[in-house]
Amino acid sequence: MIDAFIFDLDGVITDTAEYHYLAWKELANKIGIEIDREFNETLKGVSRMESLERILVHGNKQNDFTIEEKEKMANDKNMYYVSLIENITPKDILPGISKLLENIKSNNIKIGLASASKNANMVLNNLKLVNYFDFIADASKCKNSKPAPDIFLMALKGLNVEAKNCIGIEDAYSGIEAINTSGMYSVGVGDKKTLKNANLVVEDTTYLEFDTLMDIFNK
Ligand code: G6P
Ligand code: MG
Repeated sequence: MIDAFIFDLDGVITDTAEYHYLAWKELANKIGIEIDREFNETLKGVSRMESLERILVHGNKQNDFTIEEKEKMANDKNMYYVSLIENITPKDILPGISKLLENIKSNNIKIGLASASKNANMVLNNLKLVNYFDFIADASKCKNSKPAPDIFLMALKGLNVEAKNCIGIEDAYSGIEAINTSGMYSVGVGDKKTLKNANLVVEDTTYLEFDTLMDIFNK
């Protein structure tokens, strides 16, 4: 029996993971720090301020800025990120996702969102997907970033469902850790090696097929 599917947003429902990367890269370059896609993997699922801290440590500049300066940097990154996502439309929903959401709904299974992004509502609005979601966990009320399970636990509570009857879908290593710790079945979207901690890994969202997921989950 399955009660709910709980989704990550960035990199699962739409390719905003790429925009987060571009925005951080722009900010990092301004302060003389190089980041690449491999390092970016460690930022996926991580909150805005913690991502900045990780970038500063990566560039060995963790002691170079005041709290005010760091807040300004995080804000600048966000302004750039928001300018990138302002124009996204339903065309930016990753392949297979609309059909999956449709199938989950028509089988009367609940749908939740567990994203660390404070921009999640704006993204879902632009994608015209808000109505599919029975509960959207509020990232601004979540203390501990993924890999802590907090945001998934918040979604489980909001949906009033039991972890063991739910599937969580993520594109980040830290996100899969969070799903696993919460007690749900974890599905990773992306590279098999990066997401080796997941119960099931699919290469991309086209493989997130409702019947297949149900078969595997019910085994
Ligand atoms: C998601 C993304 C992260 C991002 C975080 C916070 O988890 O995977 O890359 O840093 O959300 O997003 P925000 O939009 O609040 O800066
Ligand atoms: Mg993600």
